[in-house]
Amino acid sequence: MTDLPSDPPGKPTAVSRTTLSTIMSQNDANLLGTVHGGVIMKLVDDAAGAVAGRHSEGPAVTASMDEMVFLVPVKIGDLVHVHAQVNWTGRSSMEIGVKVLAERWNESTPATRVGTAYLVFTAVDENGKPRRVPPVLPETDLDRRRYQEAGIRRTHRLARRREIQEFRDRGGAA
Ligand SMILES: CC(C)(COP(=O)(O)OP(=O)(O)OC[C@H]1O[C@@H](n2cnc3c(N)ncnc32)[C@H](O)[C@@H]1OP(=O)(O)O)[C@@H](O)C(=O)NCCC(=O)NCCS
Repeated sequence: MTDLPSDPPGKPTAVSRTTLSTIMSQNDANLLGTVHGGVIMKLVDDAAGAVAGRHSEGPAVTASMDEMVFLVPVKIGDLVHVHAQVNWTGRSSMEIGVKVLAERWNESTPATRVGTAYLVFTAVDENGKPRRVPPVLPETDLDRRRYQEAGIRRTHRLARRREIQEFRDRGGAA
């Protein structure tokens, strides 16, 4: 872990919050003619990566992606908005929450929520080793709720990883 001379000062959530907007074209289609899930996942990773880099003021890598939920299909010709923000920070890791909305590119109807995802990014130094990140400072009741829920997800991720490791250490299935 790359340590700093003193604890980095906190950064408000809004400082790094980002939206990435893209029109879906024929190149993004799957065999059913709607948008390929992997295209949306890449946009999610791109937006989350930008947020992680901005918050941590340097390189950050995707450590994990969980709870990517696709609620309704995205269509060719949809304008997709990927909203991302830092929900929670640890020593070197950050949970980034992502909300995906879609609207017809040429209609003024309200956008529909099409997916959500939670990703963990780890800030790394020039050798690819984890480095300290500034603590995120949630500003609104919604930010505070997201912070607390991210803490619950973090506890579950660590518990699952530990439990699987212990299972393997015992030699796996009998
Ligand atoms: C992510 C990575 C830097 C972690 O390195 P590591 O030596 O295992 O570091 P640590 O175990 O000390 O973990 C560092 C932090 O990342 C978190 N982390 C590591 N693996 C994680 C995982 N699978 N899920 C969630 N968090 C994870 C740890 O909880 C820790 O957080 P904290 O410092 O806030 O407490 C390393 O596994 C890596 O480089 N992975 C490849 C990343 C990559 O290339 N992504 C793009 C895919 S193409």
